Amino acid sequence: MTRLIIASNRLPVVIDKDENGMRVSPSAGGLATGLKSYHKQNDSVWIGWPGIIPASENEETEVTSLLEKEQCLPVFMNEELISNYYDGFSNATLWPLFHYFTEFAKFSETYWNAYKKVNELFAETIIQNAKENDSVWVHDYQLLLVPNILRQRRPDLKIGFFLHIPFPSYEIIRILPWREEIVEGILGADLIGFHTYDYARHFISSVKRLIGYEVEFNQIKLENRQVYVDVFPMGIDYKKFEKIALEVQSKPIQERSKEHQDIDRFLMSAPGRKLILSIDRLDYTKGIPHRLKAFRYFLKAHPEYKEIVSLIMLTVPSRTDVEQYQNLKNEVDVLVGNINGEFGTLNWNPVIYFYRSMPLENLVELYSSAEVALLTPLRDGMNLVAKEYIASKVQQKGVLILSEMAGASKELGEALTVNPSNIHDTADAIFQALTMSDEERTKAMRAMQKRIKRYDVQKWAEDFMETLAETIEKQSAYHARKISPTIKNTIYNDFKKAKSKMLFLDYDGTLQRFFDNPQAATPDKALYDLLDKLSKKKNNRVVLVSGRDRETFDRWFGSKSYTLIAEHGAWIKEPGQGWKERKPVHSEWKEIILPVLESYVDRTPGSLIEEKTYSLVWHYRKADIELGALRALELVHDVSTLIINQDLEIMEGKKVVEVKVSGINKGNASSEFLHSHQTEFILAIGDDWTDEFLFRELPESAHTIKVGSENSVAKYSLNNYQEVRSFLNEMCN
Ligand code: UDP
Ligand code: G6P
Repeated sequence: MTRLIIASNRLPVVIDKDENGMRVSPSAGGLATGLKSYHKQNDSVWIGWPGIIPASENEETEVTSLLEKEQCLPVFMNEELISNYYDGFSNATLWPLFHYFTEFAKFSETYWNAYKKVNELFAETIIQNAKENDSVWVHDYQLLLVPNILRQRRPDLKIGFFLHIPFPSYEIIRILPWREEIVEGILGADLIGFHTYDYARHFISSVKRLIGYEVEFNQIKLENRQVYVDVFPMGIDYKKFEKIALEVQSKPIQERSKEHQDIDRFLMSAPGRKLILSIDRLDYTKGIPHRLKAFRYFLKAHPEYKEIVSLIMLTVPSRTDVEQYQNLKNEVDVLVGNINGEFGTLNWNPVIYFYRSMPLENLVELYSSAEVALLTPLRDGMNLVAKEYIASKVQQKGVLILSEMAGASKELGEALTVNPSNIHDTADAIFQALTMSDEERTKAMRAMQKRIKRYDVQKWAEDFMETLAETIEKQSAYHARKISPTIKNTIYNDFKKAKSKMLFLDYDGTLQRFFDNPQAATPDKALYDLLDKLSKKKNNRVVLVSGRDRETFDRWFGSKSYTLIAEHGAWIKEPGQGWKERKPVHSEWKEIILPVLESYVDRTPGSLIEEKTYSLVWHYRKADIELGALRALELVHDVSTLIINQDLEIMEGKKVVEVKVSGINKGNASSEFLHSHQTEFILAIGDDWTDEFLFRELPESAHTIKVGSENSVAKYSLNNYQEVRSFLNEMCN
């Protein structure tokens, strides 16, 4: 049976040491708190950093054995690595950049080298512990290079990756000096998951723009495999929060925890007392100063709430060695002091401020006692606290104010959403939350509870793992088509034995790579040598079948002894003879279509028109990748209405839209040619969907090969034009 290995920087537990020895305590932060219940219920191993630097080998052994009980395996790091990889590249480069705090992002070679080293270290630990075909689920921004290292060293593994923070827009990621390495690192996975569609969309756009891979819906087409991108909004262990909330609420007051009794006392100390709650790590992405300013503004605008409402703010210490976190701590301390100094009375503190973490039970006590949760991150991948608050509101008496910048806001549409930078807006929302009718808040709360109860963390993780399994299945269909050494030998033997042979070869993308300018794709010497060698083989005919115009083909191959089929089959030329037109046609239609294409060239910088006898082609390989794709859609739409009753058709190829005379394609041209030249051995190779006509029309006995990882009716596949060349070279020998 295959096992699951989870890998993340932070383990679900941290280990620390005091005078009484080693202590195991739960980690804070969404990733660890969310995933740990799934981990517990499954036979998985979790690999990560235990949060401690062991002082000796004995301590290392002790940490390892403590973690073993938690089904965890440690990756140890020394101080220097932690400083450069964790505080450095992870939390002073990637974290600020991915959360749009570009001004905080530091770029340092030392950080980057440490990041690479630690990612290697994680990958190595995974490799050592992974059995054949195990699944590995890599998490978050600290391990972006791990998927690709695993792909290179252990292609047998099923690799999933999930990003728990936002994936920023291309305009942000392009700033990073190591942007391509980072994106390629993630692409090592089979399946890549994000919390929201926006993050997935940004990732796909960066892949297209930075690396240039083709994308179809959520599939990224790498040369030799396909990677799937999907959206899985992470959930929480809903039942756990609901259960604890019911327990803490049903406890008689005198049996409640001290903290809970303090809350009770506060609420009962004056009529109408209410608590507004916020919980987050002390992180600049969480918008804590903005929140405090909004609360101060609210108190000014609504003095009737003085001595009635308090903001209880639990901020958990986080990444305290990073400069920005230290500055933030000072800023928050000062702001809290100012507000309490300005508004506080002997009986009342407007802000009740904790700088520490709390056990789960205390968190739920806070959740269930607070009338309002005020969660206003400036950017947040998801924000699980919002979901935990909802799950803990078993009596549905609470209102959630949530920043529209949190991933969770996509699912929690019934919350009062605010732009956290707009403190007036936030203050208004506080007032609205406090004055909302019972009926309104119950209705909103019920709707949100229903949704997040259904898609809880268990469902989230299962959904991801099932999609990973499906992804692997789809990929294996492709891998099954890849030419194995046995198939290769069969084809070579057939070739050798046959008395007559014919090779149908597409040109661009099959024998030659793509160029931005199609005219630059002139055949090189090695290609001429190969084709010459093939055509000199006894009883062998080389047929180049292309969408290219006949003038270009004539210039490149006119004097050669190959048969040429140009313009998707409109023209044919046998060695030593002139070009023959297969179907004479009118060309007045070009007068109507050409101006339309020209208007697209004007509006799409980098695009160009190519004119052939039978067709007009709009090329957009050099245009902006997304604008090009958008304009191609528009163009197809515009032209389709113009070609009705015109005996024309539209063909969409790789970064081209071609309007051409209908009824002509590579398939019928080749099979017509084949009929007049009876042949024993037939081989066809092509990369484009226009080559599918060819594969389809050839007899069943033909060997058909698709170049690339897309679906095809061809029997076999090769990865790229270089593989095609060496396949043919070997066949010659
Ligand atoms: N949390 C915790 N101890 C605390 C306060 C919070 O374990 O004292 C947990 C909280 O329950 C939640 C997580 O930390 O599960 C915070 O996750 P969230 O997604 O809201 O933010 P992140 O910290 O991941 O940015
Ligand atoms: C966020 C990140 C996690 C991280 C957590 C706590 O949730 O997405 O990867 O573990 O914050 O941060 P820390 O630096 O303490 O692990």
